[in-house]
Amino acid sequence: MKNRIDDLAIFGTKPAFSEKLYVGRPNPCNFQHLIERITDIFNRCWFTNNGIYVQELERKIAEMIGVKHCIAMCNGTVALEIAIRAVGLSGEVIVPSFTFIATVHALQWQKITPVFCDIDPDTHNIDPVQIEQIITPRTTGIIGVHTWGRACDVDVLEALSEKHNLKLLFDASHAFHCSYKGKMIGQFGNAEIFSFHATKFFNTFEGGAVTTNDDDLAKKIRLMKNFGFSGYDNVVSIGTNGKLNEVSAAMGITLMENLNEFIKGNLGNYNQYHRELDNIPGIRLIEYDESEKCNYQYIVLEIDEKVTQINRDQLIEILHAENVLARRYFYPGCHKMEPYRSFFPNAGLLLPETEQLVKNVMTLPTGMAIGKSDIIQICHILRFAVKHGSDLNDRMRLVKKNKNQQGSHAE
Ligand SMILES: Cc1ncc(COP(=O)(O)O)c(C=O)c1O
Repeated sequence: MKNRIDDLAIFGTKPAFSEKLYVGRPNPCNFQHLIERITDIFNRCWFTNNGIYVQELERKIAEMIGVKHCIAMCNGTVALEIAIRAVGLSGEVIVPSFTFIATVHALQWQKITPVFCDIDPDTHNIDPVQIEQIITPRTTGIIGVHTWGRACDVDVLEALSEKHNLKLLFDASHAFHCSYKGKMIGQFGNAEIFSFHATKFFNTFEGGAVTTNDDDLAKKIRLMKNFGFSGYDNVVSIGTNGKLNEVSAAMGITLMENLNEFIKGNLGNYNQYHRELDNIPGIRLIEYDESEKCNYQYIVLEIDEKVTQINRDQLIEILHAENVLARRYFYPGCHKMEPYRSFFPNAGLLLPETEQLVKNVMTLPTGMAIGKSDIIQICHILRFAVKHGSDLNDRMRLVKKNKNQQGSHAE
């Protein structure tokens, strides 16, 4: 345990962990079951094009969610692009800036203007009050993002989209196996989009899906993801290649066997973090509503620098030196990234909560690779760093200043 400032690895001592601890490290599936499925794929020599494993995965996910259609895709970004096109979005679409850049790129890629909306600081999700203020005659839709797996205010967004005749999509990339008011996420709006990227709670190496209860929309999306082919040699509309391959689908089916175990592991870690972080002034762990289904994939902290006297980036630097690869999230906000920063240089004026959150938020490692003693150590380092926040802040600034001076002398 680190008990003196000089014990911290940032000042040159041994890190607390000999191996790096990652945010978003994939959970292991039953490797034997995966190999059996992959062997079968090779024996049958059918690798893609709506194979039996893709069909099985789609069926299993649709059943789990309680939705009529699940269309598997090669990744979440292409799933977003196809869903956006299939529901007919154009002109302007309202989207939070506090999201992964793919949510926004998927619009701009199709020459649709993203209009950035602020978030509710309590939920970190799109702020329905602001949505109404930024609707214009060019607005055709809203994309909500269920950030951290905590559902958007679905009822309000559905009412708003109905009132203004807008399409409604949800980016549910974080929200596999999560619920809203007891109903599984994946059945709301016109369609919902999942990412099955390797860093997600549920992964197919790369992959994603669109889920919907709309039969016509599902048909359109299926055509679009397969070049518009409706049968041999018969292309009936424009399309692209959004297909998931069989090995990825086999990975998904195999991981689904262990979902409950992963949730149990994540919940145990979350509860442990909750206990260990209790009463550290200036650090808030975001909470999950335990009356809902939740995957507990993200351990999210907000740092109040005025209280801790040490800022989020300094805390991350301290943790990284100890081999705890804590991460900023969605930094610096999509509106601050290109091309949006150049398109809308003043967007930040309407996004005060987003601008605040991107400076304060960080995530910590969890998942099956993280144990109770790891969490105790990580939280001890954080508690210690905050206890000595002001001293550490001074010392880290001094070290940086000296390094910069040495650098400029060397030039
Ligand atoms: C909120 C969000 N949207 C979209 C994506 C894009 O998904 P993918 O990486 O599968 O293309 C991700 C993750 O990568 C995400 O976190």
